[in-house]
Amino acid sequence: ANGDYLAPTVRARRGETVLLNVTNETSETTTLHWHGMHVPARMDGGPHSMVPPGTTWSPTWTIDQPAATLWFHPHPHGRTAEQIYRGLAGLFIIDDPSADPGGLPDSYGVDDIPLIVQDKSFTPTGELDFAAGETTAVGFVGDTIVVNGAIGAYLDAAHERIRLRLLNASTARVYRFAIADDRPFSVIASDGGLLAEPVTTTSVQLSPAERAEIVVDLRPGETTALVSHTPDLGARVDAARIFGGGTFDVLQIRAADQLEPAPDLPGTTATLPAADRGSANGARSFVLGGRIINGRLMDMGRIDEVVTVDTTEVWSVTNQSSLPHNFHVHDGQFRVLSIDGSPPPGELAGWKDTVYVAPTTTVEMLVRFETYTDPTFPYMYHCHLTVHEDQGMMGQFVVVEPGTDPALVSAPMDAMHSGIDAGAEPTPASG
Ligand code: C2O
Ligand code: CU
Ligand code: CU
Repeated sequence: ANGDYLAPTVRARRGETVLLNVTNETSETTTLHWHGMHVPARMDGGPHSMVPPGTTWSPTWTIDQPAATLWFHPHPHGRTAEQIYRGLAGLFIIDDPSADPGGLPDSYGVDDIPLIVQDKSFTPTGELDFAAGETTAVGFVGDTIVVNGAIGAYLDAAHERIRLRLLNASTARVYRFAIADDRPFSVIASDGGLLAEPVTTTSVQLSPAERAEIVVDLRPGETTALVSHTPDLGARVDAARIFGGGTFDVLQIRAADQLEPAPDLPGTTATLPAADRGSANGARSFVLGGRIINGRLMDMGRIDEVVTVDTTEVWSVTNQSSLPHNFHVHDGQFRVLSIDGSPPPGELAGWKDTVYVAPTTTVEMLVRFETYTDPTFPYMYHCHLTVHEDQGMMGQFVVVEPGTDPALVSAPMDAMHSGIDAGAEPTPASG
């Protein structure tokens, strides 16, 4: 990934046609997935888009979605967790000057700071150790926090107001980000773009693959820190037992004695369509088990769901296991309608592509499928605790024109994983 550890940030504008040349210089077959991007299935970089060592894959598409902090990472079935862990990940920032509310910190690396947060373990000789943490029910849990590839990361801040673009790129760890003195800050964006208005809070929780953009006010000369508190994983999960309890530093923040002044935050940051369940044409449910979805393990040769383009559906995801899981859908962004029947909190009310689903909890989301169809090439939905995903907690859906039958076409590499059965039973939308 253009270096030893993590990739450079990719940045593009809404309306731009991008072409990315992905050359695999590692010794393992991999893929590169554009997480959160509305993109044709063949460009999505899922497990069917294998890039063998020494070859180049060049997806292209036109970006048409709001300004957002997206990311990219490998997605080879069964190998995703370790490849991300070993540093194959980066941010993909989308800008949309025509919808910029103004007043937000936006000087990259100056007052607009990308933070890729991961937990690692190291061998006595300082090598990355993946095996050490692989034995827990949630997969790998590391004992060392690494931010943008650095242990003990710090930020020298010269502005009185800074924007942190937080990505949880960890395998399993859930963070509850806060400032060391629990001062209030503003959440301005979720996975897929700006919220309708800034949400004032003292902590924001991110499960693996989720993002949040926060704006924090600093005092001249202070040293403080972005920290993580014990997350709230729901009544049935003892987060302290899984991840270790208490609060730890993620990023030390050292404010200069003189800070550049910043304009007031805008009261309104984006115009979002109402998340209206009445707009849905169909509904599906997904039941999460220990490592399975709707009773099945991932099969590269099976289409699990067939969706008609230009429809909106309510997807209802229930975690029936005793483990923490989350749920990620490819092909774009959804809106959370409810969590156990209640409306989502403000920081989850905007565009999302990944959402935490606590044991015995049901999360309903409004998902819209538009623009791209391909009856032969699937998108994925899965738990983004990547060891669970690798163990098969994933399913495949195709988006088709009305009345089209899906038929997976076996790319040569698909055959490595399973026999191709194009006759798999699609589940029709109901309701
Ligand atoms: Cu971030 Cu299917 O992945
Ligand atoms: Cu994704
Ligand atoms: Cu899971």
